[in-house]
Amino acid sequence: MEQARAVIVDSQAAGRLAIRPMPVRAPLPFQALVRVKAISLNLGEVRRALTAAEAGWRPGWDLAGVVEQAAADGSGPPAGARVVGFLAGGAWAEAAAVPVNALAQLPDNVSFAQAATLPVAGLTALYALEQNGALLGRRVLVTGASGGVGHLAVELARQAGAFVVAAVRRPEREKHAQLAGAHHVVVGEEPSSASRFGRYDLIIESVGGGSLAAALKMLAPGGMCVLLGVSSASEASFDAASFMRTGGASLYGFILFHELPHRPAADGLARLVAMVAAGRLHPQIELEAPFEQIAEVANKLYSRGIAGKAVLHL
Ligand SMILES: NC(=O)c1ccc[n+]([C@@H]2O[C@H](COP(=O)([O-])OP(=O)(O)OC[C@H]3O[C@@H](n4cnc5c(N)ncnc54)[C@H](OP(=O)(O)O)[C@@H]3O)[C@@H](O)[C@H]2O)c1
Repeated sequence: MEQARAVIVDSQAAGRLAIRPMPVRAPLPFQALVRVKAISLNLGEVRRALTAAEAGWRPGWDLAGVVEQAAADGSGPPAGARVVGFLAGGAWAEAAAVPVNALAQLPDNVSFAQAATLPVAGLTALYALEQNGALLGRRVLVTGASGGVGHLAVELARQAGAFVVAAVRRPEREKHAQLAGAHHVVVGEEPSSASRFGRYDLIIESVGGGSLAAALKMLAPGGMCVLLGVSSASEASFDAASFMRTGGASLYGFILFHELPHRPAADGLARLVAMVAAGRLHPQIELEAPFEQIAEVANKLYSRGIAGKAVLHL
């Protein structure tokens, strides 16, 4: 069986991540074998790899590369196609078998690095924004707006015709949210000050704790808070009476893995890639490095030393 280098969790390795030769799993009939050229890192998988995962776990959700062997059932991109793909694990590797319903072909003007930023962050932002109907003329608040998901959510909401307010916690990251297209940016650990711009039809909340509590107070009648992360704190206490009296307000627990069975990654990736190709979506790549620096880059991302996406090249 062919071997390829892949990242595994090794509690003895410096930074808990090691690169080792591993067998490449033979693709199933609906999977293409992809030679990986770039990967990106997400806070969720990094947090798990550096804290909770057992030795031997293979992280990696986002990849971009070239199809080496097309799916045997004839579906999906042909051999030689440049693609972006999403996996439930093991994408941080030189080669990976990827289901064709999680692959999209890349136009020539979209780089592997740009494409690698899109799977988890882009699909999460795109599908979360579509949770409460059309956004044209609607009011949207995005918390954690300096992060990978938050940046793309601000850009996409603006593209969709919404009035967009972004919340970041550090003043030095305000500029990132402005560049993404936010009409206004509020700064602080929680976004209460965003209430001066009115109430919101949709709030994309990824910080948790006091940020979630503040968000639930700022919903407009019929508004929805899509909770997709708890970067700060998992527990929150909120004003239930205020939430109830808003009328028709809702809280949606968003997990990308729960959305994908009925909204395939391939569809969302094709839309995101087309927007990047047209110059309407700009993945924010803060750091690019060789694959061999995975442990160092993962630890930097985990300690919040990176605003936006980190991409590693193979
Ligand atoms: N539910 C899902 O399917 C799904 C999918 C993707 C991501 N997520 C989750 O969504 C969150 C964002 O993911 P990401 O990849 O965009 O992460 P990221 O790039 O690391 O961004 C994290 C964001 O949260 C902010 N933040 C972190 N700690 C904070 C705190 N204590 N108070 C206020 N803001 C804080 C960061 O601000 P600074 O820049 O100032 O540090 C940054 O804006 C993560 O919790 C991740 O696990 C969930």
